[in-house]
Amino acid sequence: PARPRVFSGIQPTADSFHLGNYLGAVRHWVALQETHDAFYCVVDLHAITAGHDPALLRQRSRVAAAQLFAVGLDPERSTLFVQSQVPEHPQLAWVLGCITGFGEASRMTQFKDKSQKHGNERSSVGLFTYPILQAADILLYQANAVPVGEDQRQHLELSRDLAQRFNATFGPTFTVPAPHIVKDTAKITDLQDPTAKMSKSSSSPAGIIDLLDDPARSAKKIRSAVTDTGREIVFDTETKPGVSNLLTIHSALSGRGIDELVAAFAGRGYGDLKKELAEVVTDFVRPIQERTRTYLDDPAQLDKLLAGGAEKARAVAATTLRSAYERVGF
Ligand code: ADP
Ligand code: NA
Repeated sequence: PARPRVFSGIQPTADSFHLGNYLGAVRHWVALQETHDAFYCVVDLHAITAGHDPALLRQRSRVAAAQLFAVGLDPERSTLFVQSQVPEHPQLAWVLGCITGFGEASRMTQFKDKSQKHGNERSSVGLFTYPILQAADILLYQANAVPVGEDQRQHLELSRDLAQRFNATFGPTFTVPAPHIVKDTAKITDLQDPTAKMSKSSSSPAGIIDLLDDPARSAKKIRSAVTDTGREIVFDTETKPGVSNLLTIHSALSGRGIDELVAAFAGRGYGDLKKELAEVVTDFVRPIQERTRTYLDDPAQLDKLLAGGAEKARAVAATTLRSAYERVGF
């Protein structure tokens, strides 16, 4: 039997993925290659909804793709591509926009949050219709499963509603995607504010560890991580969010269980944990950084890989779009 298909996308809106992106999302993408027919997308169309610099966007899309290959996405097994190279995405998004209610789109909480941040009047229409483009991303590939964090649940729900509505109105066309919930997914928090999630939009760069950070720089960030009063190394996200976050990162990267780590650090201090974590992070990121550099140092080869990915993606996307357009009456 054919493997279930998975689709996921990530925005090229930073110079590097951070550990939260890696442990919360990208790591699972790599694992899903084993069980799924995987389509992964660097969603550059989504990255221009709130203002951007063209040269920087182009560079970040390449770095994002290079990092994804470097952490283990295998172009032979998975399809990794850049969204703007597959014009079917906005072509389907238009049709889906025409079956989305204005009120329905207005209820998307991520838009409300983000537009409030930008000032409602100045928010773009693209930011407003973002979840409709996201639905097109998913539905074009007839994805069965979409890995989602809490923040994307409402958008996936819209994708499901639109698939069902289109199918009911025009005839069966789209697979209705289901959320793929990863069981032991690590939520990584900000090193400077351990109650907030690690995020590229975090207020202080000292709170984020980037995969491409120089190891000396991440060691420094880990040394200055906010911990808690007290001295005991225990895992308790309520009362000791800082120490718990360090343990979570250690465990995820070293593969050792939290309990095992807590036992190993019994009677030792925060300084010891931070020192060891810095080493764990260094050992983990070094080969990823080397492989990322190798991809970036050979732009022709990277372009070739991405062109190959776009070609494989288009073969599927064009077939879906053709049948959708035909049903619509085009
Ligand atoms: P950011 O919050 O830095 O803007 P994105 O929203 O672009 O990151 O998230 C990209 C992916 O990484 C999403 O799947 C998201 O759930 C995941 N992710 C982001 N930050 C974290 C985090 N701190 N812990 C776990 N997963 C995260
Ligand atoms: Na975000």
